[in-house]
Amino acid sequence: MSTEAAQSVPRSPAASPRTAPSPDATTSPDATTSSDATPAPAAALTPELVRTVVTAAVAAPSIHNTQPWLWDFDAAAALDEEQRREGTLTLRADAARQLSVVDPEGRQLVLSCGAALFNARLTLRLHGLDPRVEVFPDGDDRRTMPLARITVRGRRPAQERERELALAIARRHTDRRPFDPRPVPADAVHRLRVAAEEQGAWLLAPTDPDLRIQVAVLLSRADWIERHNAAYQAEVAAWSRAPASPSAPASDGLPRGAVEPADAPRQSEFPLRSFSPGSLSPGSPGPRLAEELGVTAEPGAATEAGGVVEAGGVVERPGILLIGTDADTVADRLRAGEAMQRVLLTATVLGLATSPMSQAIDMEGLREKFRGATGGLGHVQMILRVGYPHSDVPPTARTPRRDVDEVLRIADGAGPRPHQ
Ligand SMILES: Cc1cc2nc3c(=O)[nH]c(=O)nc-3n(C[C@H](O)[C@H](O)[C@H](O)COP(=O)(O)O)c2cc1C
Repeated sequence: MSTEAAQSVPRSPAASPRTAPSPDATTSPDATTSSDATPAPAAALTPELVRTVVTAAVAAPSIHNTQPWLWDFDAAAALDEEQRREGTLTLRADAARQLSVVDPEGRQLVLSCGAALFNARLTLRLHGLDPRVEVFPDGDDRRTMPLARITVRGRRPAQERERELALAIARRHTDRRPFDPRPVPADAVHRLRVAAEEQGAWLLAPTDPDLRIQVAVLLSRADWIERHNAAYQAEVAAWSRAPASPSAPASDGLPRGAVEPADAPRQSEFPLRSFSPGSLSPGSPGPRLAEELGVTAEPGAATEAGGVVEAGGVVERPGILLIGTDADTVADRLRAGEAMQRVLLTATVLGLATSPMSQAIDMEGLREKFRGATGGLGHVQMILRVGYPHSDVPPTARTPRRDVDEVLRIADGAGPRPHQ
């Protein structure tokens, strides 16, 4: 998959943005109200620091590991309150990397960008800087307009909690291994909920059997529809990567070793997205579970998955988290992506494994059903599986990333130029 780089660096955003919550929102709910920051020297965002920040940003999760983001740094793009030139770092969506089948609206693209944005601001906090993050309002074409702009307005030492989260960026990864039956402790669920709320989203951890059944049914339904869609299969195939060759390692997409545990035979209450083109999902409810759920699984899905039961005949019952927002604008989706990433990093700090299960979010009709299932709470933006992986299943392969120079453009007032 070739890299699509931004052709220009934004100079004067056409729309006035609004400020978003910061990672330490407990103490500073709105980044504009922080009062203990001391003014930063002019252009505190240096090219070196920006490279560090964008390197952390690209470690974020993204749908099918598409890494659909572009970053523009202008060392002197804006005037601060004292009319000093200051650097701005602008996040844009890379529309060329949008998945046209799974994600025609670009909602998962924006969620992925939100996760990268959270890593960026967290890294600035790790370096003792106080970022101001402006999220651009809706109505603009997100394929050409920026999603968010970061400036630095002062210095403020990182809190211990922010440090922990920032250090978890490199450790976090999607873990599709089967989870053992240990439940996620209530205090951990509480911390995950607070993490989402501090980024302006909500988090629901359904324990009510009826709601879990509804989630399972919607996930199974989505999975079945997608696996029987040739265009979906072709798109998965296009982003699937054979084992990396040392001479030409892949820098994006899904290596087999990262998704294999999801495709291995097992019986789970919640089906994982299948990444094997042409196959039926191994995680779909088998006859036993379908019967237990009181649903008739789609023809084929039940017999396929039901053939093999996980070791000991135990149905895997992972913890499940629904992350949502009250409204569903592009800004809400960006916020949901930040909240998702904060939840994923918090889970990593807590020693929990996670994997997104977004197949039911892909389809508008199913999203509506989720709204109904969650009592009209708002818009479910992401479903996460959370728990402790079986210790006897080896860790999965890590996914690759593009080089920072492929996604970062640097301008110094004399017009844009690629970094390098
Ligand atoms: C918006 C979004 C949706 C995702 N949906 C799924 C999914 O449905 N199933 C799955 O197994 N992984 C899903 N993922 C995980 C990505 O495949 C994963 O983040 C990517 O391959 C990079 O790997 P990493 O998370 O291990 O760094 C999703 C990630 C994001 C950000």
